[in-house]
Amino acid sequence: MKVFIRTFGCQMNDRDSEALTGLLLEEGYTQAKDEGSADIILVNTCSVREHAEDRARSYVGSLKKLYPKSGSRRPIVGLIGCMARNIGEEIFQRMRHIDLMCGPSGLYKIPAYIEKIKKEKIRIIDIDDTFRDEEMYRAAFRMEPDHAQVVISTGCSNYCSYCVVPYVRGNLRLRKPDFILDEVKRNIDMGIKKVTLLGQNVNDYVYIGKSGKITFVKLLKSVSEIKGVEDLSFISSQPRNTTKELFQLMARAKNITKNLHLPVQSGSNRMLKLMKRGYTREHYLSLVADYKRIVKGTISTDVIVGFPTETDKDFQQTKKILEKIKCKNAYIFKYSQRMRAQSRKMLDGVSDEVKAERHSILLELQKSISGKIRS
Ligand code: SAH
Ligand code: SF4
Ligand code: F3S
Repeated sequence: MKVFIRTFGCQMNDRDSEALTGLLLEEGYTQAKDEGSADIILVNTCSVREHAEDRARSYVGSLKKLYPKSGSRRPIVGLIGCMARNIGEEIFQRMRHIDLMCGPSGLYKIPAYIEKIKKEKIRIIDIDDTFRDEEMYRAAFRMEPDHAQVVISTGCSNYCSYCVVPYVRGNLRLRKPDFILDEVKRNIDMGIKKVTLLGQNVNDYVYIGKSGKITFVKLLKSVSEIKGVEDLSFISSQPRNTTKELFQLMARAKNITKNLHLPVQSGSNRMLKLMKRGYTREHYLSLVADYKRIVKGTISTDVIVGFPTETDKDFQQTKKILEKIKCKNAYIFKYSQRMRAQSRKMLDGVSDEVKAERHSILLELQKSISGKIRS
């Protein structure tokens, strides 16, 4: 049986698809090179913006083409990941060619669900936010032969007002430090030298165990001390609780990449407050100054334009902050209203035209800044 997984969304989803592929390979499945040759098609989805959901929805819709007009052999289709949890029930009702709907927490159960679907010819929906088992990370399989992405935590409890992630991924849950370190070691033993630690906000990692408190900085230090880790990075760092201690470690440890992804979202204090980000423009700028002084590395960021009530004055402050911090990369997004996020209740004062204009102004600006940094 051949399986094909198409992934939308962030690195967390890439890692989930990779881990799931590993579990399926262990069960004897092989990887199909495309949808047409697959017996099972799994679509791992993202809900962070409307556009991401639209793309996944139309992709899943297009899979209907693969169905033979008559005859019994047709691929099993699964819609999995964040969208399953966000709007899975509705899609399961409407798209009858979907056999399996499974949210992020239940992914490790997919091999068993597929067996059940094959045998009993039933449709399965599991969108519970139950505990994600360590089972998920058991398999050794890696998509990139030289790079291991390792999850340190799932979910998020920050509830930034625009964001759907806490609703689809659940509240913050930490993996045990030993499990994380073991996974890194297993990969090093396989010859991998590059490691990326993944969490929605890595700085939220504070594990209280028998041997005391293990913060993200402590965890990162332990990973950096594993023999054979040559290139270590992490994503993402929320400015609210990014510390100088982290910068000092980054400066000291030779194998930690000197790039920090520090999403600013907006340069306007009024917007930052409405977004519930928990820091000010001034705090962000002083963090960047500390980082540049201590680590002497590069910065990348995320920006949202057109958050409800954003005025031209707010926007100019975002433009100015981008000019000031000079990021290597900035990912600029147009605000997208999300059904569950708190900001849905705010009247969206910014028209699509204005959002598009602000978006293209920042893209242009960042293009020229990135060009200068690279050259
Ligand atoms: N946990 C990460 C962000 C994950 S989502 C962090 O806090 O850094 C990645 C990016 O998508 C966010 O940084 C934000 O810029 C953008 N984003 C999230 N929700 C959005 C929305 N409703 N509309 C537009 N962009 C959004
Ligand atoms: Fe979303 Fe904020 Fe959590 Fe990032 S820190 S995932 S933006 S709620
Ligand atoms: Fe990632 Fe999108 Fe889910 S950004 S956590 S795949 S909503």
